Amino acid sequence: MRVLGIETSCDETAASVVALDGRSTPQILSNIVLSQIEEHAAFGGVVPEIAARAHVEALDGIIEAALADSGVDLAAIDAIAATAGPGLVGGLIVGLMTAKAIAAAAKKPLIAINHLEGHALTARLTDGLDFPYLLLLVSGGHTQIVAVRGVGDYQRWATTIDDALGEAFDKTAKMLGLPYPGGPNVEKAAANGDSARFAFPRPMKGSAQPDFSFSGLKTAVRQAATAIAPLSDQDVADICASFQAAVADALGDRVARALTRFRQQFPDKAEPALVVAGGVAANRTIKATLQGLCKQVGFSFVAPPLNLCTDNAAMIAWAGIERLRAGISGENAADFVPRSRWPLDSISAPMVGSGRRGAKA
Ligand code: KG4
Ligand code: ZN
Repeated sequence: MRVLGIETSCDETAASVVALDGRSTPQILSNIVLSQIEEHAAFGGVVPEIAARAHVEALDGIIEAALADSGVDLAAIDAIAATAGPGLVGGLIVGLMTAKAIAAAAKKPLIAINHLEGHALTARLTDGLDFPYLLLLVSGGHTQIVAVRGVGDYQRWATTIDDALGEAFDKTAKMLGLPYPGGPNVEKAAANGDSARFAFPRPMKGSAQPDFSFSGLKTAVRQAATAIAPLSDQDVADICASFQAAVADALGDRVARALTRFRQQFPDKAEPALVVAGGVAANRTIKATLQGLCKQVGFSFVAPPLNLCTDNAAMIAWAGIERLRAGISGENAADFVPRSRWPLDSISAPMVGSGRRGAKA
């Protein structure tokens, strides 16, 4: 089985070919990701119009390169899998329309993939993980805990009631005059800072549901920064370190609740695992916190390589393979309309009072 994957839901234009034959482990034959960070940096965040135009310009070349790199002819591809949501609708239209055109011209099946499903199934591509497992997705657009029970069988246990975690990093960086994307720069500055200098709030800590909130923390950072302005480099470092400590602490508390719930819900699961995905998973303080937590409660901690944790098309191609293999390639994708919002499960009620504003909200 060889599937061409296409991803254009945010600010990465990506294409990949993934193969699976009989018994062996899956193989990523090519994986090309073009980041638009430079196009958006001047604006301190992703600008949807710029993103859509950049996808139009780059996508054909990226797909050609992915096919060439893989050594597989389009004729030998079994199906095209494209992200159809959730995300910025302009980019989704570019990716899905291109996929429809290729599928129609080459007479191949088209599979419309939920971007979140791509993240959710990546640990099976990289680590061959068995169902069920717990996924923590922390990116610029999403902050979710999902019980991954099977292909197409997901239960969202927690989400953010306001900002995504990556967004909180990006906004904190902006407030402190650090460049975009904020996460890596906040982490770098924090390395020289005193994490005990500012006692920032730990949002939602102790609440029974494992949901997240970061907007109060962001406000506390703003107030602290305003109170001591103008900021020296040391002030910035101390704020970053204190912010990161608050985030790690809050996240640890939320995830601990979810791990307990996983044990209750799946008591027979022999080696339960927590998988992390999304750009924020690159953060060493956060990773160490989660790793420590998993060790404490007997979960294995699975962090796929970062280039497969952040947005990419290999995870979309892989989700296509999983769906083909399970015989659930889904609705007629030729008629599929991109969905800017598309929850992974239809069971979880939308968050009451959710004020999500992220790039992919
Ligand atoms: O998964 P991703 O590449 O793209 C999507 O948002 O889908 O995640 C990007 C986000 C940005 O908000 C970025 O600031 C954050 O991940 N990020 C980090 C780190 N590296 C990237 N946040 C904290 N620490 C990092 N080292
Ligand atoms: Zn993503």
